[in-house]
Amino acid sequence: MSNIVIVGTQWGDEGKGKVVDLLAEKADHVVRFQGGNNAGHTMIVEGEQFISHLIPSGIIQKKVCYIGNGVVVDPTVLLEEIDTLSSRGIDLSPKMLRLSEKAHVIMPYHKSIDNARELKKGDKKIGTTGRGIGPCYEDKATRRGIRFCDFKEMDLFKEKVRSIMEEKNFYLEKFFGTDTLDTEAIIDEYVEIAKKLLPYITDTSVEVGDGIKKGDNVLFEGAQGTHLDIEHGTYPYVTSSSTVSGNACCGSGVGPKDIHGVVGIVKAYTTRVGEGPFVTELFDEIGTAIQKKGAEFGATTGRKRRCGWFDMVILRNSARLNGLTDLAITKLDVLDDLKEIKICTSYKYNGESIENFPASIKTLENCEPVYETMPGWEEDITGVRKFEDLPENAQKYLKRLEELSETRISIVSVGPDREETMVLNDLM
Ligand code: IMP
Repeated sequence: MSNIVIVGTQWGDEGKGKVVDLLAEKADHVVRFQGGNNAGHTMIVEGEQFISHLIPSGIIQKKVCYIGNGVVVDPTVLLEEIDTLSSRGIDLSPKMLRLSEKAHVIMPYHKSIDNARELKKGDKKIGTTGRGIGPCYEDKATRRGIRFCDFKEMDLFKEKVRSIMEEKNFYLEKFFGTDTLDTEAIIDEYVEIAKKLLPYITDTSVEVGDGIKKGDNVLFEGAQGTHLDIEHGTYPYVTSSSTVSGNACCGSGVGPKDIHGVVGIVKAYTTRVGEGPFVTELFDEIGTAIQKKGAEFGATTGRKRRCGWFDMVILRNSARLNGLTDLAITKLDVLDDLKEIKICTSYKYNGESIENFPASIKTLENCEPVYETMPGWEEDITGVRKFEDLPENAQKYLKRLEELSETRISIVSVGPDREETMVLNDLM
């Protein structure tokens, strides 16, 4: 038995979907534990592309997938995703997809508030995905959320929605000056949605726990990245959930003794979508070249991702925060054409060297990267399947990342397809 957590180490979009899909082959269960449809996971199998926002990537490998209690779920998006993936021959019957009764429901007012708030903030906006994630977690924390177990008691559900919407409509109209929402129309819509989702709703903690007792392998699939974590990220430019490995336990209802490894997904360079400080960001033609070659557009919003050099301050931070046991390096091939490659090993702030990621946004905004430069390999590596067959400079780059992060590299990805991968150490 081996239960592994997969987390993003940077600002999301590291290519977790591909690694989960790969490791899911040996898993019996795949569990999402936080975030919502702000995530976008792209998997390419034999040239065919699959994108999921809520359903764990393991579904492509025909594994039983769970949406844990820590996830916030837009039920309309979930139903659409079930329909789209089913129409492509993937089994999404309730025996394959299980939805936690404790997961919170994203309601239409969460989306309205998310967008109205961003609009009101103007150039101080967070750059959210506009999917209602923050407002839904907010209601969870203030104990006004709707959970999927409420779909089993529709009278109570209606009562709750009517009472909450009085306040939400007041807020939308009086504070943001935007349109209010029709409470009864929302209730009618959700009554229909609830009927469709009822067969999926269950106690996922019990089901995953039973699997663990039997000795099954469980993969916990994180969304976003460590530096978007509500506790440890570049606050307030973060998402509203905890994205680090510790939350795999809380967000799926398992204990820490059942976790045996934590794989950090690391892009061979750095990207970020949305606002917030980014010390190694490139504003030159190299940044543009990486953006183009890496097809760096958000899978959820289609926004261009900001690109920059590898930031070891960030990876060291992630290694500690997540207790990383292994690294999976993705998109190494995107660096194929570069003459030189840089790794930021520390920051300079007010003439002083900074080794640890600062909490203050103001400090971060004024940090300068200190780089170590390595020669590029200037060769196409997409066909390479063994570490020893990589060009010498690519091997040196990877070894240096391993050395500086003090974490072993177990997977290297050199292209989007499942096949374009090297597994250096077996993980499950
Ligand atoms: P929210 O999660 O929609 O509230 O957005 C908050 C911040 O997290 C924004 O900067 C988003 O761009 C970012 N974000 C949320 N989900 C993802 C993701 O899956 N990948 C990358 N960035 C994300």
